[in-house]
Amino acid sequence: MKHLLGIQHCTASDLERMIELGEAAKRDRGSAHSAHAKLLDNQVWGLIFSKASTRTRVSFEVGVREMGGTSLYLSARDMQLGRGEPIEDTARVLGRMVHGAIIRTFEQSDVETFAKYSGIPTINALTDEEHPCQIIADLLTVRERFGTWEGRKIVYLGDGDNNMSRSWMWAAERLGFELVIAAPEMCMPSKEYQQQFSSGHVTFTGDVESAVADASVLYTDVWVSMGQEDMEDNGREAALQAFQVNHEMVKKAADDAIVLHCLPAYRGKEITAELLEERQQEIFTQAENRLHAQKGVMQYLVRG
Ligand code: CP
Ligand code: NVA
Repeated sequence: MKHLLGIQHCTASDLERMIELGEAAKRDRGSAHSAHAKLLDNQVWGLIFSKASTRTRVSFEVGVREMGGTSLYLSARDMQLGRGEPIEDTARVLGRMVHGAIIRTFEQSDVETFAKYSGIPTINALTDEEHPCQIIADLLTVRERFGTWEGRKIVYLGDGDNNMSRSWMWAAERLGFELVIAAPEMCMPSKEYQQQFSSGHVTFTGDVESAVADASVLYTDVWVSMGQEDMEDNGREAALQAFQVNHEMVKKAADDAIVLHCLPAYRGKEITAELLEERQQEIFTQAENRLHAQKGVMQYLVRG
């Protein structure tokens, strides 16, 4: 595998390997003898971002540095790309100058086009379609806590039709764990999209009670993703209220359940302020794991 464009395009063994490498990166952090300490020696990796970012940008910039390379943060607004230069030409130029690209943008096709024309390892750092880097870190976090995702029920609550929910669906389909998408009807993926998940590992429901019962992981994300700020509400927020992750809900999950959130969080919307504070240890360990996971991803793309 040369690029990470989406979980959809990964095999189970690609995912297992990236997570394992991320786990090793966490264990060996700071050791000059770690498997990846010099892997990006003399390399420059470019980050091309069209949307805001804290965790993804910092985890990749620090990760590249800790692997011996340097990074170049390029705001798409300040590039000729922002004035209409085609993605194909941007890719051909960068492909001759940098060694890898990490791209956050709107259209999934832009990341795919970049990968095709640049010829360098290309990583999807979030599109409207998927957020694969977050999922690698999330699975690492689940395994760190429970030792495995097998036999664990993971429930994703809230906007069931966004980049995070889609990446979760593909992860469950590929790795074979139980995923429940709990969302109001208006925030569900289309029936055609749902039909792609034929293995039986992914189910869709509007019934919060049954979704949460015996769950090991309660996962949520913002109700309004980047780029959707101007979307008309049409009763959406009111419908989402029943899917808010809060104390009452956690009581119905398994006794050892963890609460995860990819962040940034909107307190009082998808999660209550009280629960976020109470579970901050879990949620910010998840955020820290972005760094380790991203090193695992880069190592896998460079070395296999
Ligand atoms: N979770 C995540 O991707 O965070 P950022 O938007 O801050 O990168
Ligand atoms: N669904 C969110 C994820 C943020 C990390 C968004 O796209 O804004």
